Amino acid sequence: MKLLLTGASGHLGANLVRRLLADGQEVRCLLRPGSNNAAVDGLPIERFYGDLRDPGALRKAVAGIERIYHCAAKISTLDGEEQEVFDCNVIGTRNLLIAAREGGVGRVVVTGSFSAVGHYTDRPSDERDPFNMFDHVMPYEKSKAGVEHECLKAAVEGQDVVVATSCAILGANDFKPSRMGAVIRDFANGKLRAYIPGGFEFVAARDIVEGHVLAMERGKTGQKYIISSGYVSMDDLMDTMSRVTGKPKPRLRLPAPVMAVISEITHFVLTNFFPTVPQRLTPGAVRILRQNRKADTSKAQKELGFRPTSIEAAIAEAYEHFVERGLIDGKQASRPRVTELKSRQRAAS
Ligand SMILES: NC(=O)c1ccc[n+]([C@@H]2O[C@H](COP(=O)([O-])OP(=O)(O)OC[C@H]3O[C@@H](n4cnc5c(N)ncnc54)[C@H](OP(=O)(O)O)[C@@H]3O)[C@@H](O)[C@H]2O)c1
Repeated sequence: MKLLLTGASGHLGANLVRRLLADGQEVRCLLRPGSNNAAVDGLPIERFYGDLRDPGALRKAVAGIERIYHCAAKISTLDGEEQEVFDCNVIGTRNLLIAAREGGVGRVVVTGSFSAVGHYTDRPSDERDPFNMFDHVMPYEKSKAGVEHECLKAAVEGQDVVVATSCAILGANDFKPSRMGAVIRDFANGKLRAYIPGGFEFVAARDIVEGHVLAMERGKTGQKYIISSGYVSMDDLMDTMSRVTGKPKPRLRLPAPVMAVISEITHFVLTNFFPTVPQRLTPGAVRILRQNRKADTSKAQKELGFRPTSIEAAIAEAYEHFVERGLIDGKQASRPRVTELKSRQRAAS
């Protein structure tokens, strides 16, 4: 069985490609020339260079492929990137699905986002809750709703498509690194000065990988499955990071409404006067944290047999990954704790 994987240079793809190779699969990865592709360095994969926005390249990329994992997407919490986000995510997914259909590919598993699921303050959301595009939502969130729409249209036309919906990913093989990976790295290096209360659904990289494999094997055509390890408040997340890294949590806990105003001002100044400076706590990111979104994963548990694992172990794995790559001072007092967490995780799986 030859598989095509998109997004292998990203956090999810880097974990999924390792799992597929460990399972003995033959994998072709769609990569972009000129990108940071360190995540696949040294892996026994077939490299195919192309962009999701190029239908001709995708027709060649799917030649001889039997199944596709489509993880690639342009993630952004910034304004001003709307066109790129739409083109990469919505048009890119459409291009890939058309290429797959015309090329006779079987099942396509597409990564969805929990940010494109409706949310409520009084109960966890499930797959049936409609995304509210009239709410104050980011272009990225709208684009992921558009991605699902493309998948459902394709399924109605008879294509075998399943959506595996991801929450915020934590874990190893985070080469770029991701926004949450940078938080863990900075925390461990004593550079995280403050945080804001709130919370979100997080998923261990290991769990979202398992969710994709299960969706490929057991998912029903045209269905989506929310894959999450659990809700974590920012207070608990800071305590967990402190246990894993052996570093104290930041003493400054900024009230979320104050942070919302600060992030709007910072975003305006950086976007207009310092466009090359990376923005972390954007207004969109602050807004999502304040919503305290929670997920109900019972559909994935019942229909796919998905079983969530530990978020603390996922943070420990991210931490180890950064230590191994020299991004965190390795002489940490907490290393025995990391070893203990990892062996507990191994025993559980
Ligand atoms: N990370 C999260 O917390 C999270 C939460 C919910 C959902 N998701 C979903 O999970 C999936 C994977 O996310 P991630 O965290 O792995 O993201 P990531 O680390 O930012 O990686 C994104 C990947 O997509 C590729 N890509 C983007 N635009 C492309 C294009 N036009 N053509 C070809 N490749 C393109 C990137 O390639 P380059 O290296 O060439 O840029 C990279 O490999 C996405 O579908 C995302 O929406 C992620």
